[in-house]
Amino acid sequence: MNSLWLGLGLSLVLLAAIQNVSGAPNMICYYDSKGFERQGLAQFGLQDMELALQFCTHVIYGYTGINPDTYELQSINKRLDMEQRHFSQITALKDRYPYIKFLLSVGGDRDLVQEDKYIKLLEAGRQAHTRFIESSRDLVRRYNFDGLDLSLQLPRNKPRKVHGEVGSAWKSFKKFFTGDFIVDSESETHKGQLTGLIKDLGSAFSASNLLLSLTVLPNVNSSWYFDAPAIAPSLDMINLATFDFLTPDRNPEEADYTSPLYEAFGQNRLGHYNVNFQMEHWLLQRVPAQKLNIGIASYGRAWKLSSESGDTGMPVVQHTKGPALAGLQTKTEGLLNWAEICQMMPNPGNSKPVRRVLDPTKRYGSYAVRPADSSDENGIWISYDDPDTASSKAQYARAKNLGGVALFDLTLDDFRGQCTGDRFPMLRAIKYRLLV
Ligand SMILES: *[C@@H]1O[C@H](CO)[C@@H](O)[C@H](O)[C@H]1NC(C)=O
Repeated sequence: MNSLWLGLGLSLVLLAAIQNVSGAPNMICYYDSKGFERQGLAQFGLQDMELALQFCTHVIYGYTGINPDTYELQSINKRLDMEQRHFSQITALKDRYPYIKFLLSVGGDRDLVQEDKYIKLLEAGRQAHTRFIESSRDLVRRYNFDGLDLSLQLPRNKPRKVHGEVGSAWKSFKKFFTGDFIVDSESETHKGQLTGLIKDLGSAFSASNLLLSLTVLPNVNSSWYFDAPAIAPSLDMINLATFDFLTPDRNPEEADYTSPLYEAFGQNRLGHYNVNFQMEHWLLQRVPAQKLNIGIASYGRAWKLSSESGDTGMPVVQHTKGPALAGLQTKTEGLLNWAEICQMMPNPGNSKPVRRVLDPTKRYGSYAVRPADSSDENGIWISYDDPDTASSKAQYARAKNLGGVALFDLTLDDFRGQCTGDRFPMLRAIKYRLLV
């Protein structure tokens, strides 16, 4: 296994060298600088970045934010980005990887002060838009990035309520099946304003030879906010973050596949909570497939199980109890990276392993389960992509002739190779499937 992957690694270096010539598929590598500041084994360093770069065609540096008063683009971590010169450290890598494009991203659910300012920016009119555009162009240029990525924090689909409130039976019936309340009664107006902003950004950036990309964050409903045919010409790429359709925070009482490729039928699942639906939504509006990249998460989502959740683990799992305990490395409730999931699999050092359930159809993804014990403790259910299912998604991207794949993000891949010894197993598996 290890030597096979080593061989793959070597051949990928060669393939990477020719990829800009051959117009090979995009491998978009999100880099959340939060990973640089994690501690211990989760600390992602510049050497790790360098190792990853041989696989990437684009690096997206996250995240910057919007100043709520002036609507200018600004650093939200000045100590790291500027004082420790991390912006420059990252773009300095362009010297050795001149064919990789480095974009600076805004939003990404990291810009947490006054979150409604993304909507406010849309409403704020021409002058505010100009300030956003000019400040973005300045920041991007000053730190030698090749462009801007818009990971806009727009209102999300409301998660489906498992326990419908008492009251109008019709109302709870409707909510149950659509999963949505009206979260933004002005969404049509906002869509129009966003189209204007993206068009203006697009002209300003292309005039300056800079790239512009859009990232659709999880559960931002594309039908509400994006006029696909109108904005696509202004964008160099569109990255769909097609994962976290359910999360333990949003859906504490039921667990399901967080990023199925296709709709898993039955149990009143929502038809739009899968990769294929989201991709088709954009393709059906005649957005060129080459502009679209499919997003894959390098982490899984973990729910706590109760004794009422049963022990089959078969999703949809009911009566879950919110996010599972944080992992030792990533230290985030309800989130585990592949290295952490891997360590929970059966092995000699592990007295309470999880059971891994693979998906031979390759349509839904894998999960791992450990039912709650008699004292109602230690139950966990994890939905995740592993190198195999990520590879199936890359295959899908090829079959649909898409631009490529976007990995969210590098710092949550198993960059130390703790699982099997392969460093960046997700990234490698995707890249390999994109190329051969
Ligand atoms: C947006 O939400 C509506 C209503 O729930 C749903 O029917 C539609 O499929 C969603 N669109 C996308 C692209 O997910």
